[in-house]
Amino acid sequence: MAGLFTFLFRCTPLLLLLLIALPAWAGQGTELIGSGKALFTGAQKFSKGGAPCVSCHAFAYPGVHGGNLAPDLTRMYEGFGEQGMKDVLKSLEFPTMKRIYADKPLTDEEISALIAFARDAGEKKSPDTGKGPVAAGTALFFCGLIGLTLYKRRIG
Ligand code: HEC
Repeated sequence: MAGLFTFLFRCTPLLLLLLIALPAWAGQGTELIGSGKALFTGAQKFSKGGAPCVSCHAFAYPGVHGGNLAPDLTRMYEGFGEQGMKDVLKSLEFPTMKRIYADKPLTDEEISALIAFARDAGEKKSPDTGKGPVAAGTALFFCGLIGLTLYKRRIG
């Protein structure tokens, strides 16, 4: 009984920490991603009135059905990187887009949101999603191991 108590006593802080940390970790930036998605699809209008990207571009993402006139942008974050994306979205200097956005530039907030959205699309495809649950599982496993060792020592 004492062993069990020690086990719970040792593990409670760790479990509490996990309970608090995991949702925060999982929810990191989801608001920004959501607004990036809304801007990309036109659910939310650009404040200067620029056309939504989805009217020309394809983008593989749940709930996004893009056009086929322009290149698929699913991997644009990987292609351009953080700074490259900022430059691209700041100027939108590609021949077809230039005319549309010349007098309707995106705001800095809209640019950050679109970048967060593009980054999320890249991360969804990479194999290291699900790090959170794995970390939780590992922590629980070691917690159990420690508890078991302590318990055995008590009765042994
Ligand atoms: C009117 C159609 C249209 C709209 C709207 C549009 N684009 Fe484009 N975009 C294009 C075309 C066409 C190209 C290919 C280069 C060219 O011909 O200008 C392109 C190229 C790009 C590229 C470079 C892709 C590459 O692989 O080189 C990026 C990044 C991009 N667009 C992002 C966006 C974003 C972000 C939006 C929304 C803010 C957007 N575009 C809205 C038509 C459009």
